[in-house]
Amino acid sequence: ADTITVLGLESSCDDTAAAVVRLGPDGPRILSSVVQGQTALHAEFGGVVPEIAARAHVERIDLCVEQALASAGTDLSGIDAIAVTAGPGLIGGVLAGVMCAKGIAAGAGLPLIGVNHLAGHALTPRLTDGLEFPYLMLLVSGGHCQFLIVHSPTRFERLGGTIDDAPGEAFDKTAKLLGLPQPGGPSVEAEARGGDPARFAFPRPLLDRPGCDMSFSGLKTALLRARDQAVAEQGGLTRHDRADLCASFQAAVADVLVEKSRRATETYLQARPDDPVLAVAGGVAANATIRNALEDLCKARGLRFVAPPLNLCTDNAAMIAWAGIERYRLGLVDGLDLSARPRWPL
Ligand code: KG4
Ligand code: ZN
Repeated sequence: ADTITVLGLESSCDDTAAAVVRLGPDGPRILSSVVQGQTALHAEFGGVVPEIAARAHVERIDLCVEQALASAGTDLSGIDAIAVTAGPGLIGGVLAGVMCAKGIAAGAGLPLIGVNHLAGHALTPRLTDGLEFPYLMLLVSGGHCQFLIVHSPTRFERLGGTIDDAPGEAFDKTAKLLGLPQPGGPSVEAEARGGDPARFAFPRPLLDRPGCDMSFSGLKTALLRARDQAVAEQGGLTRHDRADLCASFQAAVADVLVEKSRRATETYLQARPDDPVLAVAGGVAANATIRNALEDLCKARGLRFVAPPLNLCTDNAAMIAWAGIERYRLGLVDGLDLSARPRWPL
């Protein structure tokens, strides 16, 4: 057939999602993308609770699928294959998605395709911007932080990544330490406006080491110390202090990401791509300071900077359906013995 239509399912963290994506002669099109978040369910616990997440996925995924099919204007007879996130992620949630996908595949007699969640993120710029291989990808969110050269739908060359926290996690912890609302990224960014990024000399971990590995957990300790010192000296934090703390923290994260990106582009450019591209995905890519700094780097090094729209940068099922299409075209389908994997390096 000259068109492929795939139903995708995603449930590896705290978003239950289903989507229908079609690849036709004019390129790919997202026919529907339903995302049901769970932020409110986990808010009082200060982080995603795996057991609560898994139960919510089980309760909601059928309805998400129904809504995705309905708003795509189709039923299962219009679907060629079912793609599902088979890992990595919280195993209860991944299982909920995989079991649902198996049920649909078995019931409708459709091929089943297990997708690596990270591959879903990494292949998204091909869906949104039609990128050609190889491109450089910085995946930077609350759960992930790594550089990949994407060579093909199945070959991802990892250049380095965080050895501890992801930057989004560091933003969230910073917000918590300063009494700002969650998710921390947007509130720290807002607070940093007008702050002095040079007032606190926060560390730039691992910059003295070669390679693209990063570390962000030390930053929160430094921030905690600076906060406590200001409180001890002045008896509390002024708005000004908070703005300076946020701006200084943000500057440190941006510096590390940009310097490591610079090194990653060096390796990537050795592959002599025709149209060199740095693509970003993940919630942290929404940060204007970080984004502008990465754009400047790209300008200086002759790379195109590509950032998919935010709703496709964060967790969603359209990216899983698309990765499913990429695998389907290569004949890569799975059997009903597909297993859910909590850990699954690319
Ligand atoms: O990709 P995402 O929605 O979910 C996963 O982690 O998979 O990313 C969410 C993360 C959160 O940690 C959030 O604080 C961070 O992205 N984030 C930001 C901004 N907006 C969201 N971090 C920095 N600046 C932002 N404007
Ligand atoms: Zn993700």
